[in-house]
Amino acid sequence: MQFIAPDFGRNYAWMSWGRLRYAHTQGILFGFLTNAFFAFLYHAVPILSGRPVTSARLGLWLFGLWNGAVMIAGWGLVLSGVSQPLEWAEFPLVVDALIVLALLMAAVQFLPGFFRRGFDSLYVSSWYILGGLVFTLLSYPMGNVVPEFVPGASGAAFSGLWIHDAVGLFVTPMALAIAYFVIPAVMGRPVYSHFLSMLGFWLLFFLYPLNGTHHYVFSVIPMSAQFSAILASGLLGIVVVIVVFNLFMSMRGSGWLPRDLGLRFIGTSTLFYLVVSLQGSMQAQMSVNQAVHFTDWVVAHSHLAMLGFAGFAAIGGLVHAWQRIPGVAFNARAVAWAYWLLTIGLVTMVVDLTIGGVQQGNLWASSAPFMESVTASRPYWVARVHAGSILTLGFIALLIGLTTRGREARVPERDAVAVPADAPASDGVLVPANEIARGSTS
Ligand code: HEM
Repeated sequence: MQFIAPDFGRNYAWMSWGRLRYAHTQGILFGFLTNAFFAFLYHAVPILSGRPVTSARLGLWLFGLWNGAVMIAGWGLVLSGVSQPLEWAEFPLVVDALIVLALLMAAVQFLPGFFRRGFDSLYVSSWYILGGLVFTLLSYPMGNVVPEFVPGASGAAFSGLWIHDAVGLFVTPMALAIAYFVIPAVMGRPVYSHFLSMLGFWLLFFLYPLNGTHHYVFSVIPMSAQFSAILASGLLGIVVVIVVFNLFMSMRGSGWLPRDLGLRFIGTSTLFYLVVSLQGSMQAQMSVNQAVHFTDWVVAHSHLAMLGFAGFAAIGGLVHAWQRIPGVAFNARAVAWAYWLLTIGLVTMVVDLTIGGVQQGNLWASSAPFMESVTASRPYWVARVHAGSILTLGFIALLIGLTTRGREARVPERDAVAVPADAPASDGVLVPANEIARGSTS
């Protein structure tokens, strides 16, 4: 709204654009996505590892630390002007320390079951959970603390590495862990190909860190680093095609619009993942980057990625788990409304900002005064407000869907989660990767 009404909230410093952007990026990464991921892990880890999480008390501490000390304190600090001027790392150092502590607690809470179970019988979903939690423990301090001590271009290189590790080594593995969990669970059969799952997992973890410098194409960072990031970005697009192919083949038979609401969100998330990654591979190339860098095109890309891919996966995971918790309210009609509102709102926003971004880039490349690009952007920003309002309605519908009771039947008891501490992890639906390997490739 501030793009079309710059005076909106001008009397309040906390409502200034810069502070709101910081609160927004950290809010979706840590407030929305991480909470949803952790919540899903409480459903998935006992099933995947066959063992309960470490401790209920630790869980309460983790919840309190994450939401009280990290989110509320972090938001309060950035909105009052105390922040760290690093992209996607805006919470100040004191909050960074608490985040590292919380990530350590999360590792202690969720990982021991996998270690006890042994690594020769891990589900694909478990690999992504292990990879995501372990790598983030390492990459978070690297991206949030190191640039403070390495100023200039070298610091920016670390910062770019973190931007891409945050999305590539935390958000993406967690979202894929949810997809690889929910799809076989709902379809009632293993993932399509164990080989493709393995290929996708290792190439993803190998290539993502190499992508960091693509956030700084045409910068003073050595060209060799820029070129390798551009090459890695192209290769990553191919890897994503492999992963998406495997996920879609695992969903075959569920139709274009799966009846299962969790799966519906996951399917759409997978489609968004494909589109956003192919777009990413393209926009990392120098000719395209020159035309779109700093424009609303990149903002469209971020929203397609963080909300379309990761957000839809997170919602799909929550909806899947929610229906299986005995006694919890669930309103399928409201969740179906949420699906449509979020999809329509997001697609509108992405298309709108992509076209607006191309127009901005063209005007910047011409000799027209900068203000002309601002005037030309106005209709796109008006449309963005409408798209954002539809998205907000979608989230309200989701909240209603998860807090009120509808008249529809619940998920059958058979599928409800009731895993005793020593139950074998395989319930015939999720099959450990090595068993699939021993059986068939599909
Ligand atoms: C093959 C996969 C991908 C490639 C090659 C890629 C490439 C890129 C490039 C080149 C940029 C910088 C554009 C610029 O500023 O000029 C960018 C920005 C961004 N990407 Fe991607 N992307 C990919 C997938 C993803 C995914 C899966 C996510 C999230 C889950 C994501 C989230 C973001 C975000 C949030 C930004 C904006 C960062 C900022 O400047 O604030 N991307 N991407």
